[in-house]
Amino acid sequence: MITVIANLKGGSGKSTVAFNLAIWLKAKGQDVVAYDLDPQQTLSDVARIRKEDGTQPELDVMVIDQSVSDVLSAHSCQVLVDVGAGNMDAMKAAISVADRIIVPVPPSQPDVWATQRFLQVVNEVSDSSACPELIAFINRADTHHAVRESDEAEEALIMLGKFRVLPDRLCQRTSFRRTLSEGLSIFELSEKSKSAEEFARLADSLYPGITN
Ligand SMILES: Nc1ncnc2c1ncn2[C@@H]1O[C@H](COP(=O)(O)OP(=O)(O)OP(=O)(O)O)[C@@H](O)[C@H]1O
Ligand SMILES: [Mg+2]
Repeated sequence: MITVIANLKGGSGKSTVAFNLAIWLKAKGQDVVAYDLDPQQTLSDVARIRKEDGTQPELDVMVIDQSVSDVLSAHSCQVLVDVGAGNMDAMKAAISVADRIIVPVPPSQPDVWATQRFLQVVNEVSDSSACPELIAFINRADTHHAVRESDEAEEALIMLGKFRVLPDRLCQRTSFRRTLSEGLSIFELSEKSKSAEEFARLADSLYPGITN
């Protein structure tokens, strides 16, 4: 299955989600291949740190900028693709062969607008019969229950009418930030933390068939 993690706006959490999903899938014994199609190469950098530190399992991250759709389609395992607006051609090529697109959305109006624009990109690429499944969730949600922005952003995503909107939010937490800087998944950093619980719920919703 080809899962693309995408959105137009920077900093929405694409690389954080791609990295943590890749390690989660590996821990479940899945055959995973990760592609970094973003010129910033965050996912490649995280994998490099992991390798330098000798952390197991290693994560192989491929970087390609040609024949993207052919290369991605050639796999029969779990394919994760991190994309960025810095290479729109690669993003569109990945969308064209994606089984599904996971869209992390921070709870702000500009992020909702950018997500709306991202839908236009998806529409340009795929005709309606072959549109990949679109899955959105709130990332960087406020931890304080009195703050309403996350609920409002989630309602706005539902109103767009194109997404399966997961209720499994990731909150704004320091440990999520540390996953990229330390090359460790949220489970390796702090297995029993709230952030690890949040991510496990999200991953279970995204891969309901994978239990062990
Ligand atoms: N839930 C979260 N809580 C705290 N920090 C987060 C969370 N999600 C992402 N971050 C941090 O926010 C920053 C941006 O995240 P990330 O690099 O994953 O976003 P991105 O969408 O891949 O950005 P870009 O478009 O620049 O590639 C990183 O420093 C990351 O560690
Ligand atoms: Mg990124």
